[in-house]
Amino acid sequence: MKPNDIPHTTVPTSPAQNVRLNLNGELVEKSAAARTHLADFVREQCGLTGTHLGCEQGVCGSCTVMLDGQPVRSCIALAAACQDRSVRTIEGYADDPAMAALRAAFSREHALQCGYCTPGMLATAYDIVRRLPEADEQTIRVELSGNLCRCTGYVGIVRAIQSVLAERRESRAADGFAEPNPLLAIVQIHGETSDSAFAGFVAKASSTPATASPTSPALHAAPPATASAAENRKGWSHIEDGFTIDFPPDQVWAFMSDVNALASCLPGAEILEQDGETLKGRIAIKFGPISAAFNGTAVLERNDAALKGTLRGAGTDSISHSRAKGDIGFRLLPQDGAQKTSVEITLDHVLQGPLAQFSRSGLVRNFVSHMIATFGRNLVARLGGATDTVNIPAKLNVPGMVASGFWNSLTRLFGKLTRFRFGKRSS
Ligand code: FES
Ligand code: FES
Repeated sequence: MKPNDIPHTTVPTSPAQNVRLNLNGELVEKSAAARTHLADFVREQCGLTGTHLGCEQGVCGSCTVMLDGQPVRSCIALAAACQDRSVRTIEGYADDPAMAALRAAFSREHALQCGYCTPGMLATAYDIVRRLPEADEQTIRVELSGNLCRCTGYVGIVRAIQSVLAERRESRAADGFAEPNPLLAIVQIHGETSDSAFAGFVAKASSTPATASPTSPALHAAPPATASAAENRKGWSHIEDGFTIDFPPDQVWAFMSDVNALASCLPGAEILEQDGETLKGRIAIKFGPISAAFNGTAVLERNDAALKGTLRGAGTDSISHSRAKGDIGFRLLPQDGAQKTSVEITLDHVLQGPLAQFSRSGLVRNFVSHMIATFGRNLVARLGGATDTVNIPAKLNVPGMVASGFWNSLTRLFGKLTRFRFGKRSS
């Protein structure tokens, strides 16, 4: 078939709408199609080509920009979803001393060659410097793992960030005051910023650890989550996991009957409204480069006699507009003469949209396994008397994920995906 013979397919157009942003400190209002991504909006509508596009699938990190002070992938964030929010691209740091120090350090430490990844690297480095002033090399490498560089081997990049952190520690010590953590300020706002979904995540992610340690003797981990060979619905995945805790089933069930208490144990979850067994809520997640906040509704079905239940929910991520549907099943089984309880959990789910790629390669399975382990630790803490829900950890424990193999899966996935159209567009 000659090129001219290729049949013409009609791509449905999406209606244009006004997108209004605070872009690098200036109010910008432009018309854009509803499906326009933020990266295309800033590059093509606003002429800010410092934001680079590599994979356009949320993996390589080249397109990283700040949205309300948090790094996001502008290739999978819809411009319209950022309405009235604050966006900072690489062009927006002209007078910023932290970014000036990073730029100088990148140059000094040979942290770039072709420079394609550099705008995204600098945005992530800036986030590390502001958020993790005590970060060591391992933490820096984990935080950077969502930004791919095909040239440098990362050594210079890590050294550059380490040197800026060291400089800032020295100058703080000389000044005699500690730099405030920008996230803590947002935590105090407690979800009342211009984007409550995002602020909700930040509030959860920054909370301090609960009293139960990962090695709490009251929690006995089950073997890692397994995927059932039989997928019960087309396109859905099935995961089973569980744990055993040193509390009797009746006590555990009574606690689990309080959905708000239950939600306080689930990392990133928040109940916004409850009407009987119908719930409106949000669950925020962050793994590697991806932050997402799924807002949606769920219905709780409970069988008190059998000590089992199912939470059936569906939600949409406000930034990428990815959609998730899931049924979380739970069942309590008495152990050791009802002195202990085995908590069995199943997750049937389907993910659609830009984030769906992360449901491959066992990634979600490892992620869910980590979530369930954290849920179990929080449950033990609450049953043991912890009452301050703010202190229940909702933050996903990155070192724990590294140890559990989660990060290896993520890195393997990224490794596979470096082959796509990296360098497709440049400024
Ligand atoms: Fe956005 Fe690769 S992550 S272009
Ligand atoms: Fe990182 Fe070239 S310097 S991709």
